Amino acid sequence: MPRFFNAIAGLSFASIALSSPLQARQYGGSACAAVSASVATQSSVATPTVPAQLAYDCITSAPFNQSAALALVDGVVPYFKWQSNTVWLKDPPAEYAEKVQPGIDIWGGLESIRAKVVAGAYENEYTFGLELYLLLQSTHDGHFVYVPDVIGNVFNFARPVPLVSVSADGQELPKAYVYADVLAESLGNTTFTSSAISQINGQSAKEYLENWAQYGSLQDRDALYNNVFYELATVSLGPVGSGIGTFAGSGRGRWIYPNATTDFVFENGTSRSYDNYAKVLVNFTGVADGASLYQRFLTGPRPTATPSATPSANSTLSATPSATATATPKPIPAPGYPPPVVREIHNLIGGYFLEDDYSDVAVLSVPSFVGIDAQEEFQSTAATFLAAAKAAGKKKLVVDVSANGGGTILLGYDLYKLLFPNNIGHAAADRFRAFESTDIIGQKFSEVAGTFPRVLVNETGNQTLSDLVDSIGSSVFNYRSDIDVNLTNFESWQDKFGPGIQQKGDNFTNLFRWNLSDVLTPLNSGGIYVHGYGPLSNYTQQPFAAEDIVVVTDGYCASTCTIFSELMRQRAGVKYISLGGRPRAGITQAVGGVKGTNNFPWTYIQALAQYTVTELNATLDESAKLRATELGDYFDNTVFRRATVGNAINVNFRDGIRDGDDSDVPLQFVYEPSDCRILYTKAMTVDVTAIWKAVADTTWGGVSHCVAGKVGGGYKSMVKRELGVREKVLSRRMREWRRGLRVEDYPMDVSTEAEVPRGDGLMAV
Ligand SMILES: *[C@@H]1O[C@H](CO)[C@@H](O)[C@H](O)[C@H]1NC(C)=O
Ligand SMILES: *[C@@H]1O[C@H](CO)[C@@H](O)[C@H](O)[C@H]1NC(C)=O
Ligand SMILES: *[C@@H]1O[C@H](CO)[C@@H](O)[C@H](O)[C@H]1NC(C)=O
Ligand SMILES: *[C@@H]1O[C@H](CO)[C@@H](O)[C@H](O)[C@H]1NC(C)=O
Ligand SMILES: *[C@@H]1O[C@H](CO)[C@@H](O)[C@H](O)[C@H]1NC(C)=O
Ligand SMILES: *[C@@H]1O[C@H](CO)[C@@H](O)[C@H](O)[C@H]1NC(C)=O
Ligand SMILES: *[C@@H]1O[C@H](CO)[C@@H](O)[C@H](O)[C@H]1NC(C)=O
Ligand SMILES: *[C@@H]1O[C@H](CO)[C@@H](O)[C@H](O)[C@H]1NC(C)=O
Ligand SMILES: *[C@@H]1O[C@H](CO)[C@@H](O)[C@H](O)[C@H]1NC(C)=O
Ligand SMILES: *[C@@H]1O[C@H](CO)[C@@H](O)[C@H](O)[C@H]1NC(C)=O
Ligand SMILES: *[C@@H]1O[C@H](CO)[C@@H](O)[C@H](O)[C@H]1NC(C)=O
Ligand SMILES: *[C@@H]1O[C@H](CO)[C@@H](O)[C@H](O)[C@H]1NC(C)=O
Repeated sequence: MPRFFNAIAGLSFASIALSSPLQARQYGGSACAAVSASVATQSSVATPTVPAQLAYDCITSAPFNQSAALALVDGVVPYFKWQSNTVWLKDPPAEYAEKVQPGIDIWGGLESIRAKVVAGAYENEYTFGLELYLLLQSTHDGHFVYVPDVIGNVFNFARPVPLVSVSADGQELPKAYVYADVLAESLGNTTFTSSAISQINGQSAKEYLENWAQYGSLQDRDALYNNVFYELATVSLGPVGSGIGTFAGSGRGRWIYPNATTDFVFENGTSRSYDNYAKVLVNFTGVADGASLYQRFLTGPRPTATPSATPSANSTLSATPSATATATPKPIPAPGYPPPVVREIHNLIGGYFLEDDYSDVAVLSVPSFVGIDAQEEFQSTAATFLAAAKAAGKKKLVVDVSANGGGTILLGYDLYKLLFPNNIGHAAADRFRAFESTDIIGQKFSEVAGTFPRVLVNETGNQTLSDLVDSIGSSVFNYRSDIDVNLTNFESWQDKFGPGIQQKGDNFTNLFRWNLSDVLTPLNSGGIYVHGYGPLSNYTQQPFAAEDIVVVTDGYCASTCTIFSELMRQRAGVKYISLGGRPRAGITQAVGGVKGTNNFPWTYIQALAQYTVTELNATLDESAKLRATELGDYFDNTVFRRATVGNAINVNFRDGIRDGDDSDVPLQFVYEPSDCRILYTKAMTVDVTAIWKAVADTTWGGVSHCVAGKVGGGYKSMVKRELGVREKVLSRRMREWRRGLRVEDYPMDVSTEAEVPRGDGLMAV
């Protein structure tokens, strides 16, 4: 988690314009030399910027290197094999192909890129790198990601104009607006009415934005559409969220060249043109042309030393999350969020009470399941808030998981169990690809794990044993760690590995589940136990009835958030409301992000393989034999040298298979409409309580805002309290907070350095 605690950079429009002294194409000779000259004049700026077109001309002048490209396309092969769903991506169910995304042939795509490399058919390094990047991105599996150095190390592209997509009255289809206009209109300038954007770069705005949305990481098209825009929930996550929307260059938007300018025509007839720009991420001193750019930054080793969050081959294979940020946490601004009852310091989770007519309602906002070492804080915030809500007599609970890209798997189980301690603790089972690498690693891990006790070692205990338990004992490659679908322990590695079923020509392990009662749970959870199990098995009081809970999402619910949602919907029957979406009628999905149940960083895969070959061998001879298997393919470092610094490199390792689905379709490929769709309004993009109130009205207030679907009984079950002293104090605080909202509190840039479901690094348990 490099540079996690960097403060948010609040770039104003003016400073971007000023720091882009070069107009497009006003340079003679080398574009890279012009970048270098421009950067030299910006010594006082943390991140220099240049016009987007200049950056593009520079990066596309880096020459293509055939032998290096061949090493890279061949280098990814061992890691692609760990991707759980390539046969399903190639041949998805008809409903997925129709409503979500078309099929993508990963292996075929890689083969055709390789053929072009061999034929020398790439004009420059960038066109090669972009094709490789887009091959993975086009799967829309947020866990499958590799960003070549040429795509992410040198420049990040951006537009100086974040947008929002809102409905005029909550019923009409949404239109896109310049966010600064909406802010000005909402917070101060009462004489100004913003006009919707009708055209972008000569195309209808709707069509342009729907196409642009496809560059995002999510699979669902309405969730992808929402991710184009400025959103309070993502902004509240600071640098680990997807920022101010892909349109303005946050999240995956930063890796796509947006062309030189962004030209709008508004409905009122006004036209406006913005100069796009690029952030310069490396030191350009002495870069004279594309060739020197290539030599300096695109041949590895990595240009800057960035602390690695993932285990190196040398470290133990600790399952304990190691992405510990050492800097003192500073609160991250959460513009548009009211004063909380309790909130985790990075805004990963927070609890709020609503005022006046909504005094029955508590809101648990959960934009993350934690990608840093804050699992205990997350759990205690959730538990504290639910207890506080009960103590204050709240009767209704809104859970807002907007922007939730996932995080620690067992926190998803824990939050569900906090809400429903007596319900069944699983809704889906896991599996991974059964092939040579996973088999050999599993055999060795299971064998070695049989030589020491399965005990949790405390700080003062035996360090050797502690390391073994941590690296091997608690691993998914030790068959003792999980249980089968009937909650029984496996008898051997073979019993777990199978192969279980064969689908579409590929082999998978038997299905397995987390053993939530396992003594080693804290090693897989960042230190917590799950409520209802082990030392927390005395937690049995359900705080709210299922019909008194509703979950709202922007569709950006990925990874651990989808595990949580599967439990909430399938086991507890809680209703889900989806927000926003494309300007089209009809229902949308609430859960639009990757539904794989565990990602694996490629560094972790490499470490597993190398550790097995060089540490788990009983003899030198055994090591040589292991190295002669497929495990020998993981000793080359090309893919790591040629990757974007500090960005996730992942595969989706585990599929989730819904309980009772005898056809064993991975959940990733299951289309699931929400129960009700509510459109964003201007107010909701400035004050998050406008969302929560619309959700509460719809579910319990007898006033439906659903444009499709339905929740609640259509009658009022939420009551306005007799306002006591505390409620009156809250009303006053909320009024003061709203009066205090200022345009300048809403940052117009948030650097998003980490890949979006970055928290999922911690899913690599
Ligand atoms: C091309 O890449 C190879 C490594 O595969 C390297 O040895 C060579 O120097 C590179 N050529 C140029 C011109 O950088
Ligand atoms: C308010 O909007 C009007 C109309 O666009 C504009 O002329 C005026 O300068 C704005 N005032 C402020 C304080 O921004
Ligand atoms: C038209 O709308 C745009 C975008 O909201 C605004 O900037 C501009 O001032 C408006 N023009 C007029 C003439 O109202
Ligand atoms: C950039 O312009 C080209 C040529 O007009 C167009 O094909 C492409 O879609 C544009 N890219 C974006 C991101 O708008
Ligand atoms: C960039 O590199 C040059 C030469 O290596 C060095 O003098 C300069 O301080 C570096 N600039 C920054 C901002 O690090
Ligand atoms: C392992 O550690 C040694 C000694 O510190 C170092 O030379 C080597 O590069 C490391 N290997 C990896 C894969 O990190
Ligand atoms: C740690 O474990 C050792 C050995 O099992 C035990 O004697 C000791 O009391 C434990 N310490 C703590 C603080 O639990
Ligand atoms: C520590 O644990 C290891 C592995 O189980 C064992 O071989 C060793 O004897 C233990 N050492 C002590 C001092 O108990
Ligand atoms: C689980 O139990 C069912 C019903 O007893 C049985 O048919 C099935 O084979 C069992 N599955 C496993 C993996 O043990
Ligand atoms: C699946 O397993 C069968 C039987 O072991 C084997 O013949 C086949 O090659 C495997 N398929 C793949 C894609 O690994
Ligand atoms: C459960 O047990 C723990 C420790 O024994 C105690 O601190 C906690 O208050 C208990 N919780 C409940 C709900 O009884
Ligand atoms: C295991 O293999 C490594 C080399 O891969 C070797 O250094 C080590 O000594 C071997 N371990 C044993 C116990 O033979």
